Amino acid sequence: MQKIPLGPVRAITFDMYGTLLDLAASFAAGFDEFLKAKGYPGSAGDVVQAWEAAYLHESNVDSLLGRPRTPFETVRRVTLSQLFFKLKIAHTKDDIEQLVTTKATPTLFPDVKEHLTRLQGLGKYQMAVLSNGDLESLDRAVSGLGIPVGRAISAEQAGYYKPHAGVYQHAVKELGLPGEQVLHVAAHAWDIRGARAAGMAGAYINRYGIPYIDADGSQADLEVPGLAELADRLTQT
Ligand code: LAC
Repeated sequence: MQKIPLGPVRAITFDMYGTLLDLAASFAAGFDEFLKAKGYPGSAGDVVQAWEAAYLHESNVDSLLGRPRTPFETVRRVTLSQLFFKLKIAHTKDDIEQLVTTKATPTLFPDVKEHLTRLQGLGKYQMAVLSNGDLESLDRAVSGLGIPVGRAISAEQAGYYKPHAGVYQHAVKELGLPGEQVLHVAAHAWDIRGARAAGMAGAYINRYGIPYIDADGSQADLEVPGLAELADRLTQT
């Protein structure tokens, strides 16, 4: 797939979990306390990462089965319980609830506010979060954390999870632009692949020291280490 030029881009969508929201900073402290109390010797950060992989996988099972979308908040809780069973960590429903809610401290990556504000200041782009999160919790997180975007678009509105094409198509329709004028920004290669397959441009943020390697051999339209470099690049286009 050929690279899409970024000059004509007029809207930017941002993935939330793991791209704007720092999962380790948000969950590891609560997990650490819980896991230590359970005598689990492993690292809380590793468990948070394993949980992320589990919910990404599980969230797509419904669409593969042709069934309605199970809410993300359910998928997150069920997969955390499954993971704890796998790791032989005794837990209750309440433990899961607390780890996901009261023991979490939703935290943005440090580059989010400054550089999204800078992008907003260009006055050239519609900006939105485009996430697999359920609409209500996503709206609450975006306004609660003060993420400088105009709106939140949820996969729930499309009835699927990214990387199903229906989610990106829904976003493009909401933004009222042709796909190639919408740039999706994510720190996950699978999300960039999904956006590009749906005709959008894709910018990969290499937050985790993993160069963009796509299973289908294609490249991202832009690959940068963080949001500062993304804003620099889009300021120059
Ligand atoms: C998001 C995560 C699940 O869509 O990638 O915010």
